Amino acid sequence: MTTISRITADDRSAWEALWQAYITFYESEVPAEVTESTFARILEDEHVHGAIARDDEGRAIGIVHWLTHPATWTLGTYCYLEDLFVDPGARGSGTGAALIEHVRSWAHTFGASKVYWLTAHDNATARGLYDKVARSTGFVHYEIGL
Ligand SMILES: CC(C)(COP(=O)(O)OP(=O)(O)OC[C@H]1O[C@@H](n2cnc3c(N)ncnc32)[C@H](O)[C@@H]1OP(=O)(O)O)[C@@H](O)C(=O)NCCC(=O)NCCS
Repeated sequence: MTTISRITADDRSAWEALWQAYITFYESEVPAEVTESTFARILEDEHVHGAIARDDEGRAIGIVHWLTHPATWTLGTYCYLEDLFVDPGARGSGTGAALIEHVRSWAHTFGASKVYWLTAHDNATARGLYDKVARSTGFVHYEIGL
């Protein structure tokens, strides 16, 4: 059975292997100090959160990170699901869905008014999952790099 728990300091090496695989999936690179800071924020920052999925033998098979932030359209808080990754060998067994449900449940308990996230329009695998658990808003994402 897959268990999902909040990331702790003991998860560092397992988390980093999955984090690096996620960065590689995006054909990207993240400086070592960002990885260092991200893990520290997951442990310490009140707005940055993370959970790790482990299989029944304790192997780390997935991670999810989420942020909370104020918003102008609610008295409360929004929850932004920033990163989701499942080890290729563990895919298709419900771990991704379980990690999203973990965030939804956490955000509901926290009192957030919604959970939202972005994905690439051509990420058919992820969208196959997302279309089952959420609604697509049709919004298009823009950014200005600074
Ligand atoms: C997206 C991702 C997290 C899904 O993880 P997962 O553990 O395989 O997800 P689940 O097993 O819960 O998948 C459930 C649904 O996803 C869809 N799905 C899973 N694999 C799929 C595939 N190869 N092709 C199409 N849809 C697929 C299906 O709708 C599936 O439902 P079903 O099992 O009832 O058919 C995983 O594929 C992943 O880590 N991908 C690389 C990183 C990534 O894209 N992250 C998201 C960035 S926004």
